[in-house]
Amino acid sequence: MSADVFQQIEDLLQEISNTQLGDAEALEAFRIRFLGSKNIVKPIFGQIRNVENERKKEFGQKVNALKQAAEAKFQSEQQQMASAAKKEKSASIDLSLPPTEEFTGSRHPISIVMNRIIGIFERIGFTVAEEREIEDDWHNFTAMNTPDDHPARDMQDTFYLKNSVERLLRTHTSSVQSRVMTSTQPPIRIIAPGRVYRNETISARSHCQFHQVEGLFIDEKVSFADMKQTLLYFAREMYGAKTDIRLRPSYFPFTEPSAEMDVYWGLQDENAYRITKGTGWLEILGCGMVDPNVLENCKIDPDKYSGYAFGMGIERQAMLLHRINDIRLLFENDVRFLKQFNGVV
Ligand code: DAH
Repeated sequence: MSADVFQQIEDLLQEISNTQLGDAEALEAFRIRFLGSKNIVKPIFGQIRNVENERKKEFGQKVNALKQAAEAKFQSEQQQMASAAKKEKSASIDLSLPPTEEFTGSRHPISIVMNRIIGIFERIGFTVAEEREIEDDWHNFTAMNTPDDHPARDMQDTFYLKNSVERLLRTHTSSVQSRVMTSTQPPIRIIAPGRVYRNETISARSHCQFHQVEGLFIDEKVSFADMKQTLLYFAREMYGAKTDIRLRPSYFPFTEPSAEMDVYWGLQDENAYRITKGTGWLEILGCGMVDPNVLENCKIDPDKYSGYAFGMGIERQAMLLHRINDIRLLFENDVRFLKQFNGVV
């Protein structure tokens, strides 16, 4: 009987030293078998009463050794596994590798140019006014001195909403002028950036949707000279401190007198020749003194107040500043195009 127990201890010792504990699962199984509350060593201790007296001491030592061997094996394996896991973790961060590039996204060129324009006017006291893109006929046309039968309505091909001659997609941000003037009394000093729509054939140079920034300044004794100085400041902030401007007489229903403003782009290369049609001058915006009829339509006293207004397209300026040769690129949202503006603010 006692020989069997000794043999059993030997076998278990052998098992302990032979067992491969490759993973956490095997380690846990080992713990349960040798060290758990119902472990295999416990009942062996009880066998002492079957052992001959002269071998009892030897038996005790052997069982203790068995228990210690199991504990030692468990502990060393556990330690080894923990340090291997740690190593693996630190090995995954290789500090000698070159950094991977993180793409941070970029602003849309329209936003870049729009924000620049807003910044320039905010610095001299203009505030941003935003309004609806679905407008009514009155705010878009009638209030802006463009009644029903006015030929100027043909200048802007309008998208009307289905089954409505009243509601339309605004054809210009000038509609914000009438919105602001009917809800606020002067002094008014706003710029209105936003999207506008016209029923035009899409090509490299024109689109059925585009963006404008409108400006409106109304107060007592506002003059054409005030407008000219403000627009000169804008041109120099936008296109460089030495930029020259010129105002050419023009016609808009909502301003009298009206003008178009050109900036001098130069004729330094073939491209400058092409975009200025050989003149060196580039048209940037329309402007003028707010027509007294418009003030009256919006319940502002034209005898007391005067003002100037201007409106400019964004796409063309974005295309000039960033050398974009097809307006459609601005609406397709092709990431290969947009990515090129990474880092530009
Ligand atoms: N609304 C005009 C357009 O879309 C641009 C414009 C011209 C706006 C003269 C103005 C202005 O405020 O005074 O063509």
